[in-house]
Amino acid sequence: MQEKVAIITGGAQGIGRATTLALARDGAAVLVADRDESAAHDLVAGIRSWGGHAAACIADVSLEADAARIAADCVGTFGGIDILVNNAGIQRPGNVESTPLELWNATIGVNLTGVYLVSRFVIPEMRRRGSGAIVNVASLHGLLTEPGWSAYAASKGGVVSLSRAMALDYAAEGIRVNCVCPGAIDTSLLRSTASLEDAQHPEAVLKRWAAEQPIGRLGTPEEVAALILFLVGPQASFITGSVYSVDGGLGAGF
Ligand code: NAI
Repeated sequence: MQEKVAIITGGAQGIGRATTLALARDGAAVLVADRDESAAHDLVAGIRSWGGHAAACIADVSLEADAARIAADCVGTFGGIDILVNNAGIQRPGNVESTPLELWNATIGVNLTGVYLVSRFVIPEMRRRGSGAIVNVASLHGLLTEPGWSAYAASKGGVVSLSRAMALDYAAEGIRVNCVCPGAIDTSLLRSTASLEDAQHPEAVLKRWAAEQPIGRLGTPEEVAALILFLVGPQASFITGSVYSVDGGLGAGF
């Protein structure tokens, strides 16, 4: 990844943080695009402290002006863009009746429109470089789902389809687009979902979920980052338009 420049949306925590660190350790310059200012600045300071190249862009991917600023900041700071990981996401439960329109719009806005918006401003910069690699982080909920996740499943199903559409649109220009669908990964997002299910005993909920995975445990952010690192790297040069699960086997059965 030496000489490569990467943007990671939602790059300050969880799967995005692990991806940012994996890319930076491999030599890439990383732009952490996140709306959490302190987490983004802490991560950037940490990477710089061991000599890595990192910058923060405090932005909300669901806003057009912020998406434009993410691409412009990256070009201004590092001179171009080679890699984009569209990872920022939010997750709240609800069926169509219990999901207020505001929550529906927020979920689609961050999880799906955010992928479209940031890609829209980044792709012209990849074209200028003559190549690029994009990974969109969807979810197992984009392929299969369970009761009570209507907005989230709809947004992630959209990300799976959008990834395929983008791959076909830009393959001839050397811009590869792939999609990663994590299962249950131990992050603050999963932990807050566990708290919603049982505020008194979130650890017990996490333990139950871990036992429900075919592999017998939750995944780690680093296990998702490893797949993303492969997909944006040179060894994945013939891979585009593909959708990969990293889910401990959960999507293999029913
Ligand atoms: P997390 O909550 O630990 O981290 C998400 C990061 O995204 C945070 O730093 C947050 O500040 C940032 N973010 C949220 N909304 C944003 C916005 N509008 N603009 C910019 N930054 C924003 O979440 P986690 O678990 O690391 O999730 C990352 C991605 O992986 C999400 O797209 C999520 O839907 C997906 N995913 C996670 C799974 C899990 O079990 N943790 C399972 C399947 C998919």
